[in-house]
Amino acid sequence: MNVHVAVQTQAHRLDSNTAAFARDVLDGLTKPQKELSPKYFYDDTGSELFVEITRLPEYYPTRTELGILRDRAAEIAALIPPDAAIVEFGAGATTKIRLLLAAHQVAAYVPVDISGDFIITQAEALQRDFPQLAVHPLAADFTKPFALPPAVRDLPKVGFFPGSTIGNFEPQEARRFLESARDILGRGARMIIGVDLEKDENVLVPAYDDAAGVTGKFNLNLLIRINRELGADFDLSAFAHRAIYNRDQHRIEMHLVSLRDQSVHLFGERIGFRAGESIHTENSYKYSLERFRALAQQAGWTPARCWTDADAMFSVHAIETNGSRV
Ligand code: AVJ
Repeated sequence: MNVHVAVQTQAHRLDSNTAAFARDVLDGLTKPQKELSPKYFYDDTGSELFVEITRLPEYYPTRTELGILRDRAAEIAALIPPDAAIVEFGAGATTKIRLLLAAHQVAAYVPVDISGDFIITQAEALQRDFPQLAVHPLAADFTKPFALPPAVRDLPKVGFFPGSTIGNFEPQEARRFLESARDILGRGARMIIGVDLEKDENVLVPAYDDAAGVTGKFNLNLLIRINRELGADFDLSAFAHRAIYNRDQHRIEMHLVSLRDQSVHLFGERIGFRAGESIHTENSYKYSLERFRALAQQAGWTPARCWTDADAMFSVHAIETNGSRV
C-alpha cells in the first residue's frame, strides 16, 4: 500500500490537525532529501525548549533584537501613528510589543497566532497592564490571508513581525508573505520587522548548535512528538543534531542525521535510513540589509528606516506601502 493511501485510511481516526501533521510527515519522509517542517517544533516541550534557546549565551538573536527595540523605542514609535492598530504576526510572548507600547500609546493591538489559547492568556495580561489599549486577539494562520477585526478596520495599521521568524520562509515564501501582509494591512500601512543578519559562520553555527545541547534537544523533540502523536518508532539514540551554514543560500540548516542504517515504522510503512542520511528540519535564512530591502521592494513595500545593534548582529526594518491610506 502506498504511504498516501496508508495515511488516508488511518486519517479518519485522527483529528484534523493530527491528520494534517501525519500527511506532512509522510510526505516529508518519502522525499529524496527527507524533510520535516519547523512549524511542528512547537508542542509544549518544544515551546519550552525554544524559550531556553533564547536564553543561551550562543543564541544572540532574541537578546540583540530586544536591545534594539529598547534602545530605539522612541525612534520606532515615531513611525507609528498615535491612533494606530498594531497587528503582530505570529504573536507569542508579549515581551517585545510591551517595549513599543511602553514608549508610545496606540489605539489597538491585534495579536495573530494559530494557537489561540496562548495569545488569549497573553492578551488578558496585556490588557490589565495597558487598560486604555483595545486588545483583539485573533486565532489565524498568519501565513494565509485573514480578515482584521471590524473594530480596527478604519485605523491606520502597523504590522509587527519580530524574531526573524521571516527567516523560516524560503525567499519566495517570504516575498509572498510580505505581499499578503500588505493586502491585509491595507494602503498607507507600515511594518516593523526583525531580521537576522548574515555573519561569520563561527558565530552562526554555535547559535544553532550550543554547548549545552539545548538546540539538539529541541530538534530531536520533533521525533519524540512524531512517536507520541503518530505512533512512530524513531530510536532517539540513533539520530544526531547537526547545524550547518549554507553560505550560497544564506541560511543555517538544521538536520537530524541517522547514525546507522535503520528503519522506522509509521502507519504500517517502513521508512529506510542509510547511515549518514539526514532529515532536513529547518532553514533559518539570514539577510544583509540590502538583500532584505530588495525583498521588501519586490513585495511592494518601500524601505523607510532600519536599525542594527553596535555589532551588526541583527536588524529591525521599518517599511511602508506606497500610496496614502484609504
Ligand atoms: C524562531 C525561526 C527565529 O531560526 O533562529 C532557534 C528558530 N531554531 N534555534 C531561528 C530556532 C533553532 C528561530 N526562529
